[in-house]
Amino acid sequence: MIGKPNFILFTLAVLGFAACQSPVPEQSLDVSSPSGKLKVQSFLTTEGQPAYLITYDGKAVIDTSTLGFEFQDATPLAGGMELVEQATSSTNETWEMPWGEQREVVNHYNELSATFRETAAPERSYRIVFRVYDDGLGFRYEFPEQPNLKEAVIMDENTQFQLTGDHQCWWQPGDWDIYEHLYNTTKVSEIDATSKGDPNLAQSYIPENAVNTPFTLKTADGLYLSFHEAALYDYSDMTLKVDPATLLLQSELVGSARLGYKTKRKAPFHTPWRTLQISENAGGLIESRLIVNLNEPNQLGDVSWFKPTKYVGIWWEMHLDKSTWDMASGRHGATTENAKRFIDFAADNNIGGLLVEGWNTGWEHWRDPGSREGVFDFVTPYPDYDLQEVVRYAKEKGVEIIMHHETSAAPRTYEAQLDTAFALMKKLGIHSVKTGYVGKIIPEGEYHHGQWMVNHYQKVLETAARFEVAVDAHEPIKDTGIRRTWPNFISREGLRGQEFNAWSADGGNPPEHLPIIAFTRMLAGPIDFTPGIFNIKLDPYKPNNQVNTTLAQQLALYVVIYSPVQMAADLPEFYEGNPAMQFIRDVGVDWETSKVLNGEVGDFVTIARQERGADKWFLGSITDENARTLPVKLDFLSAGKKYTATLYADGPTAHWNDNPINFTIQKFLVDSSTEMELRLAPGGGAAISLIPATEEEMQELKGYGE
Ligand code: NOJ
Ligand code: CA
Repeated sequence: MIGKPNFILFTLAVLGFAACQSPVPEQSLDVSSPSGKLKVQSFLTTEGQPAYLITYDGKAVIDTSTLGFEFQDATPLAGGMELVEQATSSTNETWEMPWGEQREVVNHYNELSATFRETAAPERSYRIVFRVYDDGLGFRYEFPEQPNLKEAVIMDENTQFQLTGDHQCWWQPGDWDIYEHLYNTTKVSEIDATSKGDPNLAQSYIPENAVNTPFTLKTADGLYLSFHEAALYDYSDMTLKVDPATLLLQSELVGSARLGYKTKRKAPFHTPWRTLQISENAGGLIESRLIVNLNEPNQLGDVSWFKPTKYVGIWWEMHLDKSTWDMASGRHGATTENAKRFIDFAADNNIGGLLVEGWNTGWEHWRDPGSREGVFDFVTPYPDYDLQEVVRYAKEKGVEIIMHHETSAAPRTYEAQLDTAFALMKKLGIHSVKTGYVGKIIPEGEYHHGQWMVNHYQKVLETAARFEVAVDAHEPIKDTGIRRTWPNFISREGLRGQEFNAWSADGGNPPEHLPIIAFTRMLAGPIDFTPGIFNIKLDPYKPNNQVNTTLAQQLALYVVIYSPVQMAADLPEFYEGNPAMQFIRDVGVDWETSKVLNGEVGDFVTIARQERGADKWFLGSITDENARTLPVKLDFLSAGKKYTATLYADGPTAHWNDNPINFTIQKFLVDSSTEMELRLAPGGGAAISLIPATEEEMQELKGYGE
């Protein structure tokens, strides 16, 4: 136990640290963001080690932090270096997302590149490149071809981020195997990741006091910071090791117990971008496009074969235990008949996709310990599922099947069948697949987030692209914005999704979960969260579990959470006849533009999005366990035009636990001058569709509040 004197010393150390910023040598290389607010200074320490410091509005946000590497069979790269070359440049361009949160993205930054070389043998060198934007920055190491560093067997990358205060932060442990932890809200000095094991996880490994990214913090000055990485290829996932005493974060790469190192690369190579988003308000983090901007342009060209879509699934019923993935139980979910029932439902409700899980053989043994290699077959349907007939029927009804490939974390079995599996999909005209990696990776000693698996996910993605298939990965490697380059990487899980509400023994996702996710995991990219549960209490299937939000919040999630594939996850029987279903029918999935109207990390957030190519807006607002009244201005609407607003709100007695299905639906006229007050219940939300008013509606409806 920490005694009192220790605690005081510790507090003094932290406060003392925050008070003084370390001096920067005069000969530093400086680069500022286009507005000049954000500035990076790069220099050598007195030991000749490359270092940098970041200021925002003249105040340090990252104090002197050093750069370096440790290798197997080679001395570390740290001090004893000199600057041998430098260059600066500026870029200001606009690019178009084929699908996304917005159509046009501005990519505007100033770049500094500095090449450092050891002054003595072995005279190894690397270049450090900073790109500084108004909403944050990225930097990466670039290793040129060189005689004394032909292959780097990296035991650790030692990139430091020296915080300047004991910030409030939202973190999940730096698990090498899974991102499906609940977030913790603490001070940096209170981070204790190794104690955060979770019995609900099928795989988990937390070797260090580290956090995973995106890692979001709020400073005492009210500045929002979020650390992450961009363009992760052929390298390991970066976690951030935390020293609670000195508030130093340091890159801690995921390793391989099988290979004994973190990452291996032949020069020339470069690391992913190490990124820091900075915003004066929490919503600015969500609006930032830094992560995709730091990725290379689209390599695939036209991907119009993938259409953003809502989808239903033979899925939730398995998580509820109503049916099973396997056939042997006698309660098989993926039957031809059941698939047709879902197809009819989708066609009737403006839903374009149907995911069918448990369609292929292997599920009897998918979680067998030890023997998962070779269990799954990705082309052979169970006898009670007529794949050809289901695809034919779906097509006739204007619905496309979403393929499912659960690998049970046996990637070599999957790789051996990739071409045949995707060829089958191409033949059937199926353009998207949900993949899954439940369990410990085979071979033993590999982890989901290590270099070996990063390369596996990439191989699947590139193979899929050749067959015009888009990928939605569960138990994925985290998103680092590579959808810009590979727009067939459409969505991922990589968080504690809706499914935990159906079966976890810890009461499911608490009401604060999604108001945290919006400012953490969602900064990485699209999320396949699977919203839209109307049967909140999961009756009669799961008496001890429930969804911990109101029904109105489930609707709001279609807008708040971004994904180009958005599931209507509940069973058709719980949607039929419910007037709230109209919102799911109407809501868009592809956006012209997105605006964050308000928000605080872990508390609440309101987002408005305009449907792509249409004058239709959708607004979603969610809160944590606290009720709130949030003012929102509809000034994003086209001026001088009347819209019919349909508001799906928490009812007067709504409460995530006591009365989650209490909601109201109101229709009224609004325009760009309307100011509304959204009343959110504890664990509640509000969803609004805003559609140009018809003549009839202009006559019949009243204005807001009239
Ligand atoms: C875990 C995934 O997250 C879930 O969506 C899926 O149903 C199961 N694995 C089975 O593949
Ligand atoms: Ca999962």
